[in-house]
Amino acid sequence: MTAIKRGAIGVFDSGVGGLSTLHAIRDAYPHEHLVYVADSGHAPYGNQSAEAIIARATRITQFLLDQSCKAVVVACNTASVVALPALRAMTAIPVIGMEPAIKPAALATKTGVIGVLATQRTVDSAAVQRLIATHAAHVRVVLQACPGLVERVEAGALDDAETIGLLRKYVAPIQDAGADQLVLGCTHYYFLRASIERLLGPAVTVLEPAKAIARQLGERSHLVPGLREGDAHGGFSFFSSATDLMAATTVMARLWGIPIQPSVQRCPV
Ligand code: DGL
Repeated sequence: MTAIKRGAIGVFDSGVGGLSTLHAIRDAYPHEHLVYVADSGHAPYGNQSAEAIIARATRITQFLLDQSCKAVVVACNTASVVALPALRAMTAIPVIGMEPAIKPAALATKTGVIGVLATQRTVDSAAVQRLIATHAAHVRVVLQACPGLVERVEAGALDDAETIGLLRKYVAPIQDAGADQLVLGCTHYYFLRASIERLLGPAVTVLEPAKAIARQLGERSHLVPGLREGDAHGGFSFFSSATDLMAATTVMARLWGIPIQPSVQRCPV
């Protein structure tokens, strides 16, 4: 068991998708130091075995613990639904995971139909079945796996014809079923939100949990929202396991919205 140390907040994902969660954490806790690991060299997780995902998630979590992180955020639905118990068994610090926002969608629906876009592994998971049984038994839930979408976001192809073609295919069954709530059950899809909203029109509300995760992180780690210690702002450490680190850095900077400072380092695990 790793001893609890006061330090940075570690955040990881199978790739660049978790930057959406990192944004929400940075906005809520601007004074904290954030360490982000993009496991792009092993993405996508969504079509791998549970054992393979647990193995990667465990290695990255150990790396974050070695960086003296005081909390770890698994900014990946797929890793969360299969690996959270194993990760929590590694450490006494808070390990916060993501789950598709099925509960708020089921509470908000007026048509009685909600849609969920997620990876195959998440769609097939017992965790999602549990969420539906507990919070959405009274509504119809259309679960849609989206092979190929993570790869499009990893390549920075957010709105080209191929990506829009995939999105059309994946939202069609949800639209046809009459859903008025759409849950983005994968952090990568956040970066496709504008295109998804354009395809769906104003009758469908799109939900994703980044802000809720930031709030949960605060509650579990006793962080103070928005606190700035004098002029001291927290910094960042970015790591990526991508084979082509330069190309990965370009995509990360585009999604992050500003140049990545300091530059992305090679993930050593
Ligand atoms: N961002 C990950 C998620 O939230 C993507 C998983 C993958 O790499 O397939 O599920």
